[in-house]
Amino acid sequence: MIDKARGLPVDEVFLDLEDAVAGPAKEEARENLVAALGRGGFAAPTVVVRVNAWDTEYTVRDVTEVVGRAGAHVDALLLPKARTAAEVAALDLVLTQVEKAAGLPVGHIGIEPQIEDALGLTNIDAIATASPRVLTLVFGPADFMASIGMRTLTVGEQPDGYAPGDAYHHVFMTILVAARAHGLQAIDGPFLKVRDEDGFRRAAARTAALGFDGKWVLHPAQVDAGNEVFSPRQDEFDKAEAILEAYARSTSVEGGARGAVMFGDEMLDEASRKMALVVSARGRAAGM
Ligand code: GLV
Ligand code: MG
Repeated sequence: MIDKARGLPVDEVFLDLEDAVAGPAKEEARENLVAALGRGGFAAPTVVVRVNAWDTEYTVRDVTEVVGRAGAHVDALLLPKARTAAEVAALDLVLTQVEKAAGLPVGHIGIEPQIEDALGLTNIDAIATASPRVLTLVFGPADFMASIGMRTLTVGEQPDGYAPGDAYHHVFMTILVAARAHGLQAIDGPFLKVRDEDGFRRAAARTAALGFDGKWVLHPAQVDAGNEVFSPRQDEFDKAEAILEAYARSTSVEGGARGAVMFGDEMLDEASRKMALVVSARGRAAGM
């Protein structure tokens, strides 16, 4: 799996020490992971390790081993089941010590808190601001739905009996708004039916539409769909560029004095320009 992950056209790869690794295999997994990080070769620009949550006996040793031995190859740690600001602050302190001991620049490793239960969601603003290392808020739908007692067995799908509507909407918006309030990225979690591309696309489209920056993929088969759903369509990108051009042309002709211009039968103002900038920036980031 790690070898396959090396070549994938994704924005980030994260290597897991948490729920994808059974208790008795944690140490071996750490060894494998340190070796894999040392070998490098990931096409993804960002490489992250998910350590175990603070309610286990593994977190400190995960950080000491992984960052102490391979920290130069790690961009951030994912902190699963983040429930309080204190947990993020504690990880920051441990990271600082391990970075110092390993001769790494202090602060270069980021933290991605994963929101996976009701307490984490309730404390989300404090979690987001608990350390300057926090870059991203990540949703953990499987743990979250289990923790609140939602009656569902398929992560990412609507629970039976709850329709129409989106049972995840409040959670998505809370994470997204907290991320934007504090200048962070918002990332949606996994869709576990890895052979159901339509289901993945449906789930991804919901958070992409709201404005999330991306979504986990668990399998190479989900990569192209994920990149596609989180990039603007060509017609959206072209319209955004045309809006920006029309707005720039009009305001420059008027010496910048006009606040609103017509674009076909739509009135555009400064807020429309900002909306177009969002689509344009995402499209350019995707190489459009
Ligand atoms: C991921 O960690 C999840 O719980 O969905
Ligand atoms: Mg989880």
